[in-house]
Amino acid sequence: MNYDKLVLSAMAAREKAYVPYSKFKVGAALLTDEGKIYGGFNIECAAYSVCNCAERTALFRAIYDGYRNFSAIAVVGGVEAEEDELSSYCPPCGMCRQALREFCNPDKMKIILAKSVTDFKIFTLSDMLPESFGPDNLGK
Ligand code: THU
Repeated sequence: MNYDKLVLSAMAAREKAYVPYSKFKVGAALLTDEGKIYGGFNIECAAYSVCNCAERTALFRAIYDGYRNFSAIAVVGGVEAEEDELSSYCPPCGMCRQALREFCNPDKMKIILAKSVTDFKIFTLSDMLPESFGPDNLGK
């Protein structure tokens, strides 16, 4: 599978991030099982604990539109280094990992951490959230 389009969508989303406090722009692009892409960016608030990560912005936009199953998410975040490449990968926080867990098969869900379209690492959600608690634990 080629994730160029997903990474480019995450980069485009990142440009729109609302980050007056940290200045740390993050973009995410979530792929539905139907093939639709939802972008999201981080949104900060003066009351810092209310900040929302890029991954959950993308997820909640897609959920609102009726999508419930996802197969991949690309995440790009941080500060630019040279030639439009980001200086580091931006792994999803624990809260976003758990939120994604609700709506995917963790062994199949791909998490693409990218610095550019040519520089990325791919994990599964199970790699990042092992022995997770999910809907099945509640019999769902
Ligand atoms: N952030 C994300 O949007 N996603 C991540 O994967 C990690 C952190 C945001 C939250 C906050 O706006 C800024 O990055 C610094 O923590």
